[in-house]
Parts: sequence; structure tokens; C-alpha cells
Amino acid sequence: MGFFISLEGGEGSGKSTVIKKIQEALMQQGHEVIVTREPGGIDIAEQIRHVILDTKNVKMDGKTEALLYAAARRQHLVEKVIPALAQGKIVLCDRFIDSSLTYQGYARGLGFEEVLSINQFAIEGYMPDLTLYLDVSPETGLSRIEKDGKREVNRLDVESLGFHHKVREGYHILLKQFPERIRNVNAENDIETVCSDALNEVLNFLKS
Ligand code: TYD
Repeated sequence: MGFFISLEGGEGSGKSTVIKKIQEALMQQGHEVIVTREPGGIDIAEQIRHVILDTKNVKMDGKTEALLYAAARRQHLVEKVIPALAQGKIVLCDRFIDSSLTYQGYARGLGFEEVLSINQFAIEGYMPDLTLYLDVSPETGLSRIEKDGKREVNRLDVESLGFHHKVREGYHILLKQFPERIRNVNAENDIETVCSDALNEVLNFLKS
């Protein structure tokens, strides 16, 4: 079996840059690595992603949103993550269940337990071996996104600053709840430091 590593963080925390750096470093060490993302990563889940994140879908109910994320997660897990793990690969996944727990469960107010239970149905016990949480204030994160003109703006990006503060609070609760699995990385630092701190967490985990 390979290793399943998820990356989590608020908007503009630098996840995609960090994930590329970790992939390069691990491949140089001879590991087989795949990088993927949620929601999406495979055709059916990308179709679901389109429905969830479309800025036109202002009428979407919170529970519908949570169920769609769980549906996309299931398909992506079955079609891509589980087969790669079975081939001994390291799977680096941009977001997984913790995103649902904090965005839908905490920030939208659906409840951690409720969102956990629909996700348990979807994932059947497949949890990441390690999760890196890139911690950044919403003010820093959103200002990075504004500077990066290339990045698409989605339905969750345009939520209020208060929503993004709740997302961060939710992650901090999860850090306390799962101290063995989730590692905190300070993402207020410059991107080189964030990348090397994140990589060190992964290397320490692989050594252990
Ligand atoms: P994306 O453009 O991939 O954002 P980011 O670069 O911040 O990861 O969009 C994913 C959005 O979906 C992001 O705002 C977080 C949100 N999300 C949830 O609310 N719940 C989830 O379970 C997942 C996977 C993502």
C-alpha cells in the first residue's frame, strides 16, 4: 500500500504551489507520486465540481452542497485514489474530508457530526495517513488571490470574510481533534519557507 496525504487550508494558503514542490522532491527520491484535487480529479467528479462551484448557483442549499462534495469525493476515491494506493503510490490530494467538515460542517453550520456521517458513507474508512494544514489568515489569503489574476474565482471564494474566519476556526478545532493525523504549517511565511516546512513534515512522516 502507498501513502495517502491530503493538503488543507483556506483560500490563498499556497496549497497548489506546496503540492508541486512536495511532488518534485518525493519523485527525486524515487517515489511514485500522483497529485490530484477535490472536488474533481476525474471526469465525473469534475462535472460535479462545475455544478458546486458555479457562481450562478446561488440557490444551492447547504445540504445539497455537502452531499455533492461527498458524491464527488466517493467517485474520485474509488476511481483514482484507491487504485493508486494499491499500486504503492503516494497520493497527494489537494483537499479531502476536512474541507467538508470545516466549510460545510462548521462555517455553513451543518454540524461536524452530520457532515462526518454522510462522508463516512462515502469514504468507508479511507482516511488520509497524513494531512498538512496550511494555516493563513483570511486577510492574507484573499489578498494573495486578488494579486493572482489568473486564478478563477468560485462560489465559495466570494463568501464574506466572516465565513472564511469560520473556516479557519473550524480547521483549528480539527487540529485539536486529530493531532496525530493533522500537522499545522504556518502559511503566513514566504512561499519558500512554507514549502520547506511542509516538505519536512512529509519527510518526517515517511521516516517514521
Ligand atoms: P478550488 O478552486 O479548488 O479552491 P482552492 O484552491 O482554495 O482549493 O475550490 C474548491 C472550493 O471548494 C474551496 O472554496 C473549498 C471548497 N470545498 C468545500 O467547501 N468542501 C469540500 O469538501 C471541498 C473538497 C472543497
